[in-house]
Amino acid sequence: MTLRHLLADDDLSPAEQGAVLDRALALKADPFSDRCLAGPQVVAVLFDKPTLRTQLAFATGIAQLGGHPLVVDGNLAQVGVRESIADVTRVLTRQVAAIVWRTFGQDRIVEMSRYATVPVVNALTDDYHPCQILADLMTIREHRGDLAGLTLAYVGDGANNMAHSYLLGAALAGMHVRVGTPSAYQPKPEILARARAIAATTGGSVLITDDPVAAVTGADAVATDRWVSMGQEAESGDRKGEAGPFAPYAVSPELMAHAAADAVFLHCLPAYRGCEVDAAVIDGPQSVVWDEAENRLHAQKAVLSFLLEQSRADS
Ligand code: CP
Repeated sequence: MTLRHLLADDDLSPAEQGAVLDRALALKADPFSDRCLAGPQVVAVLFDKPTLRTQLAFATGIAQLGGHPLVVDGNLAQVGVRESIADVTRVLTRQVAAIVWRTFGQDRIVEMSRYATVPVVNALTDDYHPCQILADLMTIREHRGDLAGLTLAYVGDGANNMAHSYLLGAALAGMHVRVGTPSAYQPKPEILARARAIAATTGGSVLITDDPVAAVTGADAVATDRWVSMGQEAESGDRKGEAGPFAPYAVSPELMAHAAADAVFLHCLPAYRGCEVDAAVIDGPQSVVWDEAENRLHAQKAVLSFLLEQSRADS
């Protein structure tokens, strides 16, 4: 049996990513057409960090696929504290069809995948947020058409999970991905190297710059994320504010004006108006953030359906 997981964006090949996006668009058009969890089969959805959208989309999506979501508060399960990751996984995997986990270190979800006999899905770690990027790519595809050849600019913290997942996910899609970030907040070198290697095979490209205008100029999609990621709250005072490192990368109408005239604006949410984005942009005509938030549902359903199908096909 070849068990399939989504631990990082590049666990999907370029063709598989396209197939998942096709599936997500089909599920959006016909939400109850796929009943792969009929039974109902249970999917365990564990959260070691706060959430709204991810929990909502997995709970709704698993129900629409005919299954039952078991949402577990990480404070209760205390994975790796009360009980080892291995033992938690051994227990879960005997009863559920898949495991979804939002946690801290990527090493934790990689360890879970070693013991799981069902698909494991990364619902955000310190390094990656692959479900979010699939929803973002779906949203760009809806608004701008075929992804290959389009330019996606991400401005803000280049060292966070969103930057890493944009690099990998957009490169897989054959996009030109630019990250505008201060030199002290560069993506992890090994992730950057993977993105560059993927782009070389898909016709995409990767640019890292400390110039926000250079990042955004002519872009088809402009994205940002909050400047204090989950787990970085202690650094919040250094990161926020007009004197902080990310202030020049805030998405203002002036910065957005450098993008293509029909560029879309993306934000994974929650957003902080007046910090990483101006209200005039996120609440303005180029913003597609509410489509993006809805598309979490369709993309996550497609991921679960794809991984279960692939794992069963090889069993
Ligand atoms: N964008 C995102 O992952 O939202 P939540 O943190 O609310 O799940």
